[in-house]
Amino acid sequence: MTETATVAAVLGRMSPNLELNQNVAERRADGDDIVHLGFGEARLPVFGPFAQALAAGARHNAYGPVNGAPRVREAVAGYFTRRGLPTEAPQVITAPGSKPILTALQLVLPGDTVIPAPAWNSYRPQAELAGKRVLPVPIPEACGGVPDPERLREIVREARRRGADPRTVIVTLPDNPTGTVASPETVRELCAVAEQEDLVIVSDEIYRDLVHDPATPVLSPAEVAPHRTIVTTGLSKTLALGGWRIGAARFPAGDWGERAHRGVASVASEVWSTLAAPMQEVAAYAFDEPPEIRQRLAASARLHGAVARAVHGIMTDSGALCRPPTGGFYVYPDFEPVRGALAGRGVADSASLFQYLLDEHRIAVLAGHHLGDDPGALRFKAATSLLYGDTRELQQQALEATDPVRLPHVAAVLDRIRDCFAKLGA
Ligand SMILES: Cc1ncc(COP(=O)(O)O)c(C=O)c1O
Repeated sequence: MTETATVAAVLGRMSPNLELNQNVAERRADGDDIVHLGFGEARLPVFGPFAQALAAGARHNAYGPVNGAPRVREAVAGYFTRRGLPTEAPQVITAPGSKPILTALQLVLPGDTVIPAPAWNSYRPQAELAGKRVLPVPIPEACGGVPDPERLREIVREARRRGADPRTVIVTLPDNPTGTVASPETVRELCAVAEQEDLVIVSDEIYRDLVHDPATPVLSPAEVAPHRTIVTTGLSKTLALGGWRIGAARFPAGDWGERAHRGVASVASEVWSTLAAPMQEVAAYAFDEPPEIRQRLAASARLHGAVARAVHGIMTDSGALCRPPTGGFYVYPDFEPVRGALAGRGVADSASLFQYLLDEHRIAVLAGHHLGDDPGALRFKAATSLLYGDTRELQQQALEATDPVRLPHVAAVLDRIRDCFAKLGA
């Protein structure tokens, strides 16, 4: 009874993005023609060979090892090694999605947790479920996904003076919600502060393979501060397998990394046991990255980039400030420059902007305050990955198109968004 009450007090609601997604699905089923920009799902068809791998895995019905089968852990180790992070299979755990790993880390790592503001909406509740205090630190002007390093130092020191115990900082590379990739310089500064202040870094790199321009450098904190960085990843975003629930993590070599890994494996053994055996077949194939997987990743990154840039252009044309998207499939506009015009429509904060877009324009977004942003700000997250069409055929066309924003079905929804936002600031 008491336990239930405690969890209810911490959360007392569904995760806002999942709740919104269900609401939109219900309203659409009732015939409401909503443009859905409110859910971070890579809405693309299942890549054919995954279905074959899954069918092959269907014969596997044993629980298997908690960390995942040796073959899968080898494949994940190879994946990280190819990204500049030499990794041995024993450093790896796999799980049904990266969410359980991120939550287990909160249960295992001591002290309080620092997150960027804004940040993906689940970091805070995951930390709170583990009984931690959460310290939001504003992101830099140029990018999201990392706390501004200078502010991080100040806020950590101030928090310690007030009796909090910040020991972990979470970063997202590339970022959800801003759709940007922190520069190597910013990552190095962040790591320097983490060293000085003795913070563990949890680097959520689930969007890593969706950097729009292959020339954009991605520096993992695990390259700069290897002994204190745990990296999480998964196939939900990069390979559009959210519903298949495949995630993984890499722990540092050495005593501390092994202890943290054992802690997460211990949570796993009590909560989810292991990644579903048929999914391990899929994971081994995907993390091995044969040429067709690399092509699929490159095509996905190209598509996400093209559509995110188009939506970014619509937002800035309508008067918003918005960091140019460079990775993943989000934009995070700020309508502060047109606050006056919006006030005339009864829009004065993040909640009323969300409601206005939904009621007046049938456009669903995720309001900034759900991402830990200032509720008074006029900001929201738009997930642009839901604009590729409602059928597998249309989505496949988008994936294969050299200029996807010119496809009639993609152009039509972009026009509708453009029409709405052109009126917004006028
Ligand atoms: C930044 C970030 N991390 C982690 C996740 C969780 O993904 P999964 O549990 O599907 O691996 C998401 C999904 O929305 C995300 O956006």
